[in-house]
Amino acid sequence: MRIFLLGFMGAGKSSLGPVLAERGGLLFFDLDDEIARSAKRSIAEIFTVEGEEAFRRLEREELESFRCREGLVLATGGGILEREENHLAVTESHSVYLAWPWLLLRDRLQADGSGRRPLLAGDEHALYELWRRRDPVYRRLCRQVLDFAARDAREPRERHLQEIADRILSSATEDV
Ligand code: S3P
Repeated sequence: MRIFLLGFMGAGKSSLGPVLAERGGLLFFDLDDEIARSAKRSIAEIFTVEGEEAFRRLEREELESFRCREGLVLATGGGILEREENHLAVTESHSVYLAWPWLLLRDRLQADGSGRRPLLAGDEHALYELWRRRDPVYRRLCRQVLDFAARDAREPRERHLQEIADRILSSATEDV
């Protein structure tokens, strides 16, 4: 089983990933962490020093290394579908889109507010446009789409993550 988690920044891929892996007896990887480890630089540094194109190249290479592996959950970066060459790796896996309406996502990003996301430095409208452009692409390419709403943000966190993980695992089991 190979599960890829997709979604915009702040969708919760990195929080859900380890819970999902544990419940499914799978290994968890975070693509950004793997990129940073290989490049020996943080994602923010890669963007600043080498630029987004260089980051996308590294992202592509790292994704490729997961393509034929089994027994894992991979949290991908929000821009994974920016490059068409990445689409096949995503459609070949049990790919799950963690979908949030824009306003809830914006609140989550504000609450998170970490400096590790270079693309958050832009203005809010540009970020919204990015989400608006990406949302239909995630929906088109992912095998499972989980649409979250305000009530999901209010659920007790750990139990909610476990419930979502179980929904994903039963869908991925049917998928193999
Ligand atoms: C990006 C999302 C980030 C990271 C990089 C670019 C994007 O990952 O890969 O900053 O293009 O949306 P997260 O979605 O985990 O924040």
